[in-house]
Amino acid sequence: MAEEYYKAAALADLEQGKLHAVEVDGEPICLVKLEDGIFAFTDNCTHISGPLNEGDFDGCTVTCPWHLAQFDVRTGEVKRGPARENLYTYPVKVENETVYVALPPA
Ligand code: FES
Repeated sequence: MAEEYYKAAALADLEQGKLHAVEVDGEPICLVKLEDGIFAFTDNCTHISGPLNEGDFDGCTVTCPWHLAQFDVRTGEVKRGPARENLYTYPVKVENETVYVALPPA
């Protein structure tokens, strides 16, 4: 089954380089607008579910507020432990000033 896109935010609500938490169909997702596009990743740290939207953000790296694991928000890749598992990243598209993210097929 193909992935399905869901409305996540108005484009105007995203500020360049600022983390923006949303819930899409019950999933906590964090959005961020960078120079090269908009990225979406799960808002639960893969260590023990720290809220990444409350962490620091610098360049393309988010730092978990709980135990300071770091991830690249474009790829989800772990850059620093204690997390070992990469973040899930969601496909994003923008249409009519609205940001959509694709959830994986159920
Ligand atoms: S919950 Fe994120 S580093 Fe521990």
